[in-house]
Amino acid sequence: MPEISEKLTNKIDAVKQVLADITANYQSATLASSYGAEDMVVMDLICKFAPDIEIFTLDTGRLPKETYDVMQEAKVHYGREVTVYFPDANDVEAFVTEQGPNAFYNSVELRKQCCGIRKVKPLKRALAGKQAWLTGMRRSQAVTRSELPVSEYDEGFGLQKFSPLTDWSNGDVWAYIKAFDVPYNKLHDQGVASIGCAPCTRAITAGEDIRAGRWWWENPESKECGLHVKATKLES
Ligand code: ADX
Ligand code: SF4
Repeated sequence: MPEISEKLTNKIDAVKQVLADITANYQSATLASSYGAEDMVVMDLICKFAPDIEIFTLDTGRLPKETYDVMQEAKVHYGREVTVYFPDANDVEAFVTEQGPNAFYNSVELRKQCCGIRKVKPLKRALAGKQAWLTGMRRSQAVTRSELPVSEYDEGFGLQKFSPLTDWSNGDVWAYIKAFDVPYNKLHDQGVASIGCAPCTRAITAGEDIRAGRWWWENPESKECGLHVKATKLES
C-alpha cells in the first residue's frame, strides 16, 4: 500500500462512495476527461472501482502534443475505452474560414464562439441520452468554482452533474497521482497547472492562480468555456 495520509485516504473513500452511489442510481453515467491531473485521478478511481461508468474526451483539434501522449499512455495503462468526440467539421471550416485560425485572441465573443464549436456542441452530443456526468473540477481552481457542489442538477445540459473532487486541494491531487503511479500530462512538469487547447494554455509562475494560464488575456470572471454553464451563471 502506498504512503498516503489519513486525510487523503478519507477523501479517496468519499469519492469511492460517490462513484458507488452513481453506479447504483444512474443507468448511464460518463466522465468528461480532458486528461488533466484531476481527471486522471477520477479516471483511475473509475477504472479500479466503478468500471460501469463510461469515459469520454472532447478532442477540439487544437490540443497540445502532451495531451495526446497521455491519452495514448492511459489507453495502454488502463485498457479502457474512452469515447472521443470531435467538433463538427462544417462548423470549424466555416469559423476558421471567416475569422481565421487564431480569432479567439481578438475578443471574448470570438473565443466563446470557438469554444462553442470545438467543445460545447460536441459535449451536447457526448451527454445526449446520459443520466449523469462527472467532472474533475475543484472549488479552489477558480473564482467561478468557489461554490461548486459534489452533486447538482445541470440545467444547461439537463442531467445530474457530479464533481467528486470538489474539496480536494492541488496537493491532494498530486499526492494521489504519485502514490498510485497514475499517468499524467507532462505539461504539468513544465508549470502548466490547468491544460486546455494549446493556443489558449500557458505555464503559470509561482503564486499565480491555478487557472491563470488559461485564456490569460481575459478577466478571471469570463474564464469558463461553456462546458460548465451553472458555474458561469453564478458569477454573472
Ligand atoms: S474548462 O474551462 O476547460 O472546462 P477545466 O480545464 O478546468 O476547464 O476542466 C474542467 C472539467 O471540464 C474537467 O475536469 C473535465 O471534466 C471537463 N473538461 C474540460 N475539457 C475537456 C475536454 N477536452 N474533454 C472532456 N472533458 C473536458
Ligand atoms: Fe478555441 Fe481556445 Fe476554446 Fe480551444 S480553448 S476551443 S482553441 S477558444
